[in-house]
Amino acid sequence: MYSLSLQKRTSLDELNALFSLGDQIQFIDGPGDFTYVQLETVHGSALISLYGGHVMRYQPQDEAPVLWMSSESQYDAGKAIRGGIPVCWPWFGPHPADKTKPNHGFARISEWHVFATRVIDQDTVQVRLALNSDDHSRFFWPYDFSLQLIVTLSEKLDVTLRVRNTGSSAFSMGGALHSYFTISHIESIKIRGLEDTVYIDQLASDARKTQSGPILFGSELDNIYVDTVNAVVIEDPGLHRNIRVEKTGSQSTVVWNPWIDKSRRMSDFGDDEYVGMVCVETANAVEDLVYLEPGETHQLGTSIQAERLG
Ligand code: BG6
Repeated sequence: MYSLSLQKRTSLDELNALFSLGDQIQFIDGPGDFTYVQLETVHGSALISLYGGHVMRYQPQDEAPVLWMSSESQYDAGKAIRGGIPVCWPWFGPHPADKTKPNHGFARISEWHVFATRVIDQDTVQVRLALNSDDHSRFFWPYDFSLQLIVTLSEKLDVTLRVRNTGSSAFSMGGALHSYFTISHIESIKIRGLEDTVYIDQLASDARKTQSGPILFGSELDNIYVDTVNAVVIEDPGLHRNIRVEKTGSQSTVVWNPWIDKSRRMSDFGDDEYVGMVCVETANAVEDLVYLEPGETHQLGTSIQAERLG
């Protein structure tokens, strides 16, 4: 135990010696004995766990947190952190052929390492995390790859997942930047930007339906909107703000709220927490799979900005 924590402390010191940049980029300990990188600028702050390459906080200056975290989240290696932005990859949802494999892939339950940090200007900082194929990944998926998660904090938060096929065989992949957002109350928000879009209703045997008007919530909702590249806006009069979610490299958007019964079934999600969160996920899901030949690269990106209402 002593040597483990000593080793952990040394590696935190090493990370800070190699990659911290003044007060703007610091490596710290946190829940679950994981290592976290904290970003600070005049515009706000962000916190990213190296376990999962998981953005856990984005908080603009003088604003409520934009990303939602469950107070019941577990911080155990092998389990996903609940809230923030889980990196779902290389598949979205259940594995298509093997239900024993982890839901939403293995990237969110893998230990990432720090690739680089950068102060771009006094208002903009960036950290790049990396995850490369190894014995752990090959246990779940047979291909060779290199991933980079590029998190840039400025007057908004940009998160990009860059995937490169480093092997000699082509592969297809899905994924998502599965963003959880803080809202005032699920029954008082509206989501705009997906009007007249076809969606797959995962709660109705994957029936295809068409969204009429903005999305409103009054029960569990788990929809995959297809063929959409549009920005989505969460209108939240209760918090006097809109959250704008833009995206690249994605033609599907998932909107999810578990409502009452599913919240109760999830051990890492408080029974009443569904009222304060909604997921809008920048995805490569269902037929929106990405095919990469050896040497090819794909970037899935989301850009998140809180806009204060008058
Ligand atoms: C969403 C799915 O993306 O993720 C839901 O559409 C799922 O069906 C949710 O319940 C959470 O998944 P997990 O694996 O993090 O519990």
